Amino acid sequence: MNFEFNEEQLAVRDAARDFAQKELLPGVIDRDTHQTFPAEQIRKMGELGFMGMMVDPRYNGGGMDTISYVLAMEEISKIDASCSVAMSVNNSLVCWGLEKYGNEEQKQKYLTRLATGELLGAFCLSEPEAGSDATSQQTTAEDLGDHYLLNGTKNWITNGGNADIYIVIAQTYPEKGHKGINALIVEKGAAGFTIGKKEDKMGIRGSDTHSLMFNDVKIPKENRIGEDGFGFSFAMKTLDGGRIGIAAQALGLASGAFELALAYSKERKAFGKQIAQHQAIQFKLADMATSIETARLICLKAADLKDRGKNYSTESAMAKLYTSEIAQKVCSEAVQIHGGYGYVKEYHVERLMRDAKITQIYEGTSEIQKIVISRSLTK
Ligand code: CAA
Repeated sequence: MNFEFNEEQLAVRDAARDFAQKELLPGVIDRDTHQTFPAEQIRKMGELGFMGMMVDPRYNGGGMDTISYVLAMEEISKIDASCSVAMSVNNSLVCWGLEKYGNEEQKQKYLTRLATGELLGAFCLSEPEAGSDATSQQTTAEDLGDHYLLNGTKNWITNGGNADIYIVIAQTYPEKGHKGINALIVEKGAAGFTIGKKEDKMGIRGSDTHSLMFNDVKIPKENRIGEDGFGFSFAMKTLDGGRIGIAAQALGLASGAFELALAYSKERKAFGKQIAQHQAIQFKLADMATSIETARLICLKAADLKDRGKNYSTESAMAKLYTSEIAQKVCSEAVQIHGGYGYVKEYHVERLMRDAKITQIYEGTSEIQKIVISRSLTK
């Protein structure tokens, strides 16, 4: 076991930290207030290689490991979780799925441009009546010979309004249940594909979350990912990696809030001394730092298993479950340490606290992670 990062991993972390401070921090409060999608910031993230970090350089990716991805996600999420969720979806749900299960033509046509950030991807599994219960897909992809006819509605789609490429999960053979589901690549602008309303959210307000409607959308057969009926398995395998990304996002929200609270506690004076000198604050800081370090280790363990080609399904669920839970507590304590200042936008921690809540919900709620973990223990 080696707890040291290598030089490349450290360089990635420093580059992400530098970028987040210089390019994301200015304007983050304004983007949150006005629900402004960070298009320019995401374009720059693409130029720096953050949108296709783990993709093979043959397909224009960064060729980096998952550990580097976790480090970069943590740094970006400390400042702007709306940017990091776009980054996470593009890297782990879209690029990874295409690289692992797409064919060469799909990779050349889509992955080479998704990996550079020239195109942005979205992953469309959730529906109005199929969130946690993901096998109950109502969206249909009827097999009509050389193409599928796609009909249905998807909900809560991250990058929904700004994506170029959508991976859509849909039912082709209802009688086969989850074994009849397919994953299809849908391009923005396809006839019959409309983007529904943008959600007005509690947190990650810069991220654009939309419902999507498909009405007799013709999808060529060559846009199916993997074998006929592979779609549900594709979604589950892809989400295993996605959960590492969201765990790293929760880690960044927690460590970002902690850093702000620590700095504030050394500036703010009460009862004649820095509040950091009061045991009530010291114990909070100790608890926060301990839970962040524990969360970081489980995130890195899941990433390391993935990099070494081992099974990481359980560990990624544990990482997401634990880190999203501690992010809630740490962000709330960071607001508490700031007192009244923590409750106003200028000090950032209230945004981090609002943003942290979603990490317990998307890419599988905490309750779904417990199902995944307990099933692996008891099977
Ligand atoms: N890898 C591969 N296959 C898997 C798998 C995995 N990790 N997990 C399950 N499967 C397979 C099972 O083996 C089974 O196949 P077989 O019958 O061939 O063995 C099939 O999938 C169905 O699994 P279950 O019988 O366990 O199905 P279930 O309905 O009881 O439970 C579930 C499945 C784990 C609860 C699943 O529905 C689930 O993960 N739900 C949560 C969905 C989710 O995470 N949604 C997030 C939306 S995406 C998002 O949020 C992105 C974003 O924009 C930020």
